[in-house]
Amino acid sequence: MTLTDVLAASGGAIAVFYLLRLIWTCWRGLQEYFISKLWKVDLRRYGRWAVVTGATSGIGKAYAAELAQRGLDVVLISRCDEKLRTVAREIEDEYGRKTRTIQVDFTHGHSIYPYIAAELRGLEIGILVNNVGMTYSDNFAYFLEIPDAEQKITQVINCNVLSVPQMTRMVLPGMIERGTGLIINISSQVGVHPQPLLSLYSSTKSFVTYFSQCLHAEYKSKGITVQCVAPFMVSTNMTKNMKASCLIRSAAGFVHEALNTVGYTSYASGCLSHALQSAAIAVFLPDAIRMSSFFMKKMQTMAEMSQKVRGKEE
Ligand SMILES: NC(=O)c1ccc[n+]([C@@H]2O[C@H](COP(=O)([O-])OP(=O)(O)OC[C@H]3O[C@@H](n4cnc5c(N)ncnc54)[C@H](OP(=O)(O)O)[C@@H]3O)[C@@H](O)[C@H]2O)c1
Repeated sequence: MTLTDVLAASGGAIAVFYLLRLIWTCWRGLQEYFISKLWKVDLRRYGRWAVVTGATSGIGKAYAAELAQRGLDVVLISRCDEKLRTVAREIEDEYGRKTRTIQVDFTHGHSIYPYIAAELRGLEIGILVNNVGMTYSDNFAYFLEIPDAEQKITQVINCNVLSVPQMTRMVLPGMIERGTGLIINISSQVGVHPQPLLSLYSSTKSFVTYFSQCLHAEYKSKGITVQCVAPFMVSTNMTKNMKASCLIRSAAGFVHEALNTVGYTSYASGCLSHALQSAAIAVFLPDAIRMSSFFMKKMQTMAEMSQKVRGKEE
């Protein structure tokens, strides 16, 4: 065999490998975002109640409404009692499901969990959506530019990180006993790829991604599905209710698609548009570019410009 033959054989093997990988990725995408529309999993099979943290606006409110529409009673958890009562009434009137509300502030740390556990006691909880999350700055910022850093660091970690395993350990034993359960953890694309200038937020979301994937591996044999959902931009209060488009999804549209993927994948970008954005970023903006000083400066400039435009519009 000549060197040319060896090179040709290796090139052929590599081409076949990438072709097969592409076919596999396309088949998975077809299942997650097209076939899943036709054959949806009946979410009532997990149990009677769904619990949603951060349920009074944005993605959490959309999950609560969509789960009620698909036949579950819903426990709504957030900070503001008035908003909780309004959303609960809306869901009861529109979908005829039962609701309960729990008013807590997740930034307060471990002290709130005995109260939540007492409120959830006796309910057959089939689905938990760990959605609550917060950012700490309106714009991209260097770590030392975080406003009120001493307090904010603890608050963000309590809200984005601590809430996820604490809520999980409350509902998981009941799910294991019944041999079925679904836990959906809302991460972010910046929890999959490190994002400078959002360092604390990005790191808290990477915890959510890893925790979800490890937990799914540990408990899938017991009938538990742990799904990590990692969106790009969704139009909510967190993103200053930016105009929805094919790239920036509305919360309701996003959640409708994301819930269809249950039973098809334990890791989802959430919707087709975000899956395509994720694939494009992996190819055109690898970590090495996104982490460079040049790119960070560009991002800051773009963020400042869009803030000025928003300011003028307001
Ligand atoms: N929007 C996006 O583009 C995007 C992208 C990727 C990931 N995510 C993630 O998606 C999740 C939801 O984000 P969102 O955009 O829907 O946010 P949002 O519109 O700001 O809604 C946040 C929800 O959480 C509640 N909440 C906030 N802080 C709380 C606290 N300390 N204690 C209890 N409840 C609290 C809020 O209600 P009250 O104010 O009534 O308490 C509200 O119901 C977050 O985990 C976020 O990181 C969002």
